[in-house]
Amino acid sequence: MQFQNRQDKILIIDFGSQVTKLIARRVRDLGVYSEIITPEEVKKINDYSLIKGIILSGGPSTVTKKKFQNVPKNIFKKKIPILGICYGLQLIAKLLGGKIKSAKKKREFGRAFLIKKNNSLLIKNFFNSNSSVWMSHEDAVVKLPRKFKIIASTKNSKLTIIENTKEKIYGIQFHPEVTHTNNGKKIFKNFLFLICKVKKKWSINLQKNRLIKEIKKKVKKEKVICALSGGVDSSVAALLINKAIKKNLICIMVDTGLMRKNEFRDTFKIFKKKYKLNIKLINASNLFLKKLKGISNPEKKRKIIGKLFIKIFERESKKFKNVKFLAQGTLYPDIIESRSSSGSKTSKIKSHHNVGGLPKKMKFNLLEPLKEFFKDEVRVLGKNLGLNESILLRHPFPGPGLAIRILGNITKEKIKILQETDYIFINELIKNNLYRKIWQAYAAILPIKTVGVMGDSRTYEYTCLLRAVTSEDGMTADYFNFSKDFIDKISNKIINNVKGINRVVYDITSKPPSTIELE
Ligand code: XMP
Repeated sequence: MQFQNRQDKILIIDFGSQVTKLIARRVRDLGVYSEIITPEEVKKINDYSLIKGIILSGGPSTVTKKKFQNVPKNIFKKKIPILGICYGLQLIAKLLGGKIKSAKKKREFGRAFLIKKNNSLLIKNFFNSNSSVWMSHEDAVVKLPRKFKIIASTKNSKLTIIENTKEKIYGIQFHPEVTHTNNGKKIFKNFLFLICKVKKKWSINLQKNRLIKEIKKKVKKEKVICALSGGVDSSVAALLINKAIKKNLICIMVDTGLMRKNEFRDTFKIFKKKYKLNIKLINASNLFLKKLKGISNPEKKRKIIGKLFIKIFERESKKFKNVKFLAQGTLYPDIIESRSSSGSKTSKIKSHHNVGGLPKKMKFNLLEPLKEFFKDEVRVLGKNLGLNESILLRHPFPGPGLAIRILGNITKEKIKILQETDYIFINELIKNNLYRKIWQAYAAILPIKTVGVMGDSRTYEYTCLLRAVTSEDGMTADYFNFSKDFIDKISNKIINNVKGINRVVYDITSKPPSTIELE
């Protein structure tokens, strides 16, 4: 089994919890490198020397059934501290001689309050006046495994924190990784520094030189091609590779005509002039418009755009001889998500088109220098590489661009209306210091016209929808609470400046049940 990175690490075994990534983030935020692997991959580890601690995540499985998600028992014999969270705790108890019961009547979902029973390094300075923790479980440990003791309970579950002090094995029923658990970070801090005794060595900036060295070593004198979208990930990947191999990096930017007003061309200029990248701009807007003509089905739009993008990229890349590598801004969450822990694929809600998900059949070796990192780490790296703030802090923008924000069929006229509307909205957010408080914001055009009155005349024009959400990683989101003043101002400004719009609505749904994009 190959680790992402050859350095000391906390290993997180993922049993399929929705929040496993948060565990990895919390550990890294404390300055310690973490990697997530599946229970299957544990069997393939042949060298444990870099692993300084193991965390078993939560998950939907239950040890009360005959078949459950498991790990080889020998991980308990490696003298490596282990922390089980939720399902992780139940699995530890099951494997080491405890008893677990489905506790339907005493299940805990949401807030619960801890009662301390014994001292432990794991809870040093954890308890304060508010001992509320976040629970999400139906099974509960009802008999301690051998050589374990109780550290804390709640009203409904006696064995909420347990430990085997000698073997350094710990289990907790609640989720310290979510922000709803008060002081949850302390649990990780104690586990890492008091129990695993790891040193703070992880910082993304310290990784920069290693990454550059690794790129040089891998690429040697060969050429690398990179599809640059102007988003943070591909931009940081391109700057990093450029630092390593300079002119041997060829960047291609495909203008689909479905980008925000000015943004794509401005980004191109920045890369060309400021960073002196070897870069080619392909204007394919007419082609995209032609292929999308009359198409209103969202999935069809996505497929057409994805395919066309690949076709153009393939055609352009053939114009350069001797290209051996394809660079992509793949991030760590992409890697984790493509290796499902239970083997079952999460149901597909939308087919994502990513510049990152490029041509598998092209005969390139992949160069993915960001595949160990989370998005916020990539932003730190981008800052260190001197990437412009306008690109660095840009809201996420979907691969298919404005095509999925023009509901129904796409026309040149609608693209223009949307670009203007979006431009006004985003600029007002920036001017009012709201842009950075919001995770993602955009305007869309709905496929309906409604009646309005402007001056003394009747109008019959499009409705625009504004969306602005707060989120941590796009998996869940809340709508942003604008002041009435701002809502009034923005509605007024759009109606007065964009011909073709006579109504503005604001989307007040969270994700779930909605998604962030409309199509
Ligand atoms: P949803 O709409 O699924 O979106 O809640 C979650 C995040 O993903 C972005 N998104 C995409 N990004 N290619 C991308 O690169 C796509 O096809 C795509 N579709 C959605 C969306 O903007 C949000 O940030």
